[in-house]
Amino acid sequence: MTVAMEKQRRWPGLIEHYREFLPVSDSTPVVTLLEGNTPLIEITGISEAIPKGVRVYVKYEGLNPTGSFKDRGMTMAISKAAEEGAKAVICASTGNTSASAAAYAARAGMRCYVVVEGGAIAMGKLSQALIHGAKMLSVDGNFDTALRLVREVAQRLPVKLVNSVNPYRLEGQKTAAFEVCDQLGEAPDFLAIPVGNAGNISAYWKGFKEYRGVGRIGKLPVMLGFQAAGAAPLVEGRVIPSPKTIATAIKIGDPASRRLALAARDESGGRIEAVSDEEILDAYQKLARMAGVFCEPASAASVAGVVKLAGKGFFQQGQRIVCVLTGHGLKDPDRAIASAEPPVTIPATIEALTEAIKA
Ligand code: F0G
Repeated sequence: MTVAMEKQRRWPGLIEHYREFLPVSDSTPVVTLLEGNTPLIEITGISEAIPKGVRVYVKYEGLNPTGSFKDRGMTMAISKAAEEGAKAVICASTGNTSASAAAYAARAGMRCYVVVEGGAIAMGKLSQALIHGAKMLSVDGNFDTALRLVREVAQRLPVKLVNSVNPYRLEGQKTAAFEVCDQLGEAPDFLAIPVGNAGNISAYWKGFKEYRGVGRIGKLPVMLGFQAAGAAPLVEGRVIPSPKTIATAIKIGDPASRRLALAARDESGGRIEAVSDEEILDAYQKLARMAGVFCEPASAASVAGVVKLAGKGFFQQGQRIVCVLTGHGLKDPDRAIASAEPPVTIPATIEALTEAIKA
């Protein structure tokens, strides 16, 4: 086999790659779309505030099979559901969980039920859940209400809950921390991440601690979580009954993994802070226009937060920061179009085209 062929063949999906760290056995039927192994990309020039000599990387989780980090958790949750003989799964979602659950459930031959807030799901995510055959139930209530409903119904009916309160979800998602360390050769100094239901920040912290525990890394990062200002229950220390933000993925007022997220913050000496919609959109546009990286608005909260802290002199030369970009920009095409110059219509002539290019 040539080197090129060997490289092509190598990635077996995250359960196989990190099997020794995951609660699977030989009898677990692995349901995979070969998720994981996403690129860690260095970005420069995003903000003057970031001092020279500070290196900023993005972990581009939008390149997972359904376009978000949820696939890491879902390969585990659906594999374990299959092992337990489940025929149906259910989740509440702001969109990405539903897309991922629908895809992995389809692959496992399970029914998938999704409960969402009516009118609140970005177009890309909606289309994914539907095309994979999920039964989508829209309610007159936000994500927090939907999560309460599905938690209760999963106790009454034979449907497996695959939200991140399912512990297998965090087990899968912690592999992103392993990858970051494998890619850098060490833990970064800071790990910046958007926070919604607070599962992912908890999963990363668990992953870093486990890698440190087995000596794969020599230090732990400082965890920096960022919530949207209109949906910042962990920053404000209270439930937000009606969260509001353009970052629909993290429009959550009552995070289920609150306790774990606060522990990640405190144990790492980190912070959970708020960024405004304007700061999020600014980072979202700069990532696309200056770094060539298209993520969804919620994902840009990690970069917006780093820019904000950099402005306060938070970072020092020689430090390495990893910002998690949790979902692909194509998830929310409406927001992209609304955030850019509209197309210009011109006559189909060489003169008009010449004129337009010069202008
Ligand atoms: N970024 C994106 C793109 C998300 O979809 C989510 C959560 C988060 C960040 C926050 O992650 O909840 O683990 O703190 N989306 C969930 C969903 C709620 O239903 O798709 P978290």
